[in-house]
Amino acid sequence: MDKIIIKGGKRLTGTLPISGAKNAALTLLPCALLTEEPLTLRNLPRLADIDGFQHLLNQFGVSTTIAGSRPQDFGRVMTLQTPRLTNTTAPYELVRKMRASILVLGPLLGRAGEAKVSLPGGCAIGNRPIDLHLKALEAMGAEIELAAGYVRAAAPDGGLPGGDFAFPVVSVGATENALMAAVLANGTTRLDNAAREPEIVDLCNLLVAMGARIENIGESDLTIHGVPRLHGATYRVMADRIEAGSYACAAAITGGDVMLKGANPAEMRATTHALRNAGVNVEESDAGLRVYCDGPLRAVNLSTAPYPGFATDMQAQLMALLCQADGTSVLNETIFENRYMHVPELNRMGAHIETNGRTAVVHGVDRLTGAEVMATDLRASMSLVIAGLAAEGETVVHRLYHLDRGYERLEEKLALVGADIERVGSD
Ligand code: UD1
Repeated sequence: MDKIIIKGGKRLTGTLPISGAKNAALTLLPCALLTEEPLTLRNLPRLADIDGFQHLLNQFGVSTTIAGSRPQDFGRVMTLQTPRLTNTTAPYELVRKMRASILVLGPLLGRAGEAKVSLPGGCAIGNRPIDLHLKALEAMGAEIELAAGYVRAAAPDGGLPGGDFAFPVVSVGATENALMAAVLANGTTRLDNAAREPEIVDLCNLLVAMGARIENIGESDLTIHGVPRLHGATYRVMADRIEAGSYACAAAITGGDVMLKGANPAEMRATTHALRNAGVNVEESDAGLRVYCDGPLRAVNLSTAPYPGFATDMQAQLMALLCQADGTSVLNETIFENRYMHVPELNRMGAHIETNGRTAVVHGVDRLTGAEVMATDLRASMSLVIAGLAAEGETVVHRLYHLDRGYERLEEKLALVGADIERVGSD
């Protein structure tokens, strides 16, 4: 397995391109199941998760072709087409590897009237149940059965009627599944307390481009009027706000000055607010986000929350930054119950962080020191990279599998702005 070696202490400067959003791509790809016409997605990030999802879609009779990009470019263009669904079962071997596979449930049910998807099981950052996905589909008229590790969903003869559902907890994935099922329902669906993340807006915009009728896009009360069929579309995946936020923390911790080209400032307000509170300068423009830091970092207190609040997917990276702030920061993780697995590793690098349940207290330290580290999830791995960029000496990050799931050519991008970083095959 490869590892990344970082020699810390280099100030990051220059321009770093931001890729298409992983989490948006993972909900735009299954929209190919909703129509027999071609769907072309531009600006897809080159990531292990996207390859995995493509492979999953191929199981259902989706043809996929990649065109129009050279290996040295970031991003890809993929055309997907499903003339006919040849299968409606998502098997355990594929779902186990990628939780987002559950996002085929809604569109398969919407188009074919049936779907069988392996239960995703636990994952490194908590239990992550799918009860809300199932309850929303049930409210729209689906019959749901759980047996032998699979969820089987079926629409009545003639298709899903549609219906009303109020989410008791905001769920990104459940909102996405409900939307993708509702667009082809016979009647109208109203979703209350729906997620409002920019990735949901991206999904709604694609569905509308395919002929769907959705009201109140970007709000928490969505109304979807089902249509008999959807058509093809060409669509550009939004910029990755979490990737951009991660590199903003990387720039700041090195006292650098980096232009995050292509980032969308309007979708990153909670992150830029937190960075400014921490003493980091952030300038917004049409080209992206300039992040620079020329003074000491300050401690901040914050809680993660659904959008427009501070994203749980940015918590680990901001924590790495706060390790070097003056004073004591308090972070509260409200979305996932077990999302502090980076803490022991950061402490091994000289950080001083204490956790108590969902609260983490970060006592700023003067310096971090390089170490051999590994993490058990994507954003936690990124927090170790960020810490390594500022640490004295050498940091070796193992288990790159996680980073490769979510950061397109991480070491190339960081090297572009002056980081001393290399990927090597381990012995
Ligand atoms: C998505 C993102 C993930 C991000 C998360 C929260 C993708 C592929 N993943 O994950 O990166 O961290 O949103 O912004 O887009 N819940 C239930 N029952 C359910 C579903 C969720 O109780 O049926 C709970 C979860 O345990 C969690 C909370 O709701 O506590 C939010 O989870 P959710 O928004 O669904 O996260 P994902 O869609 O899995």
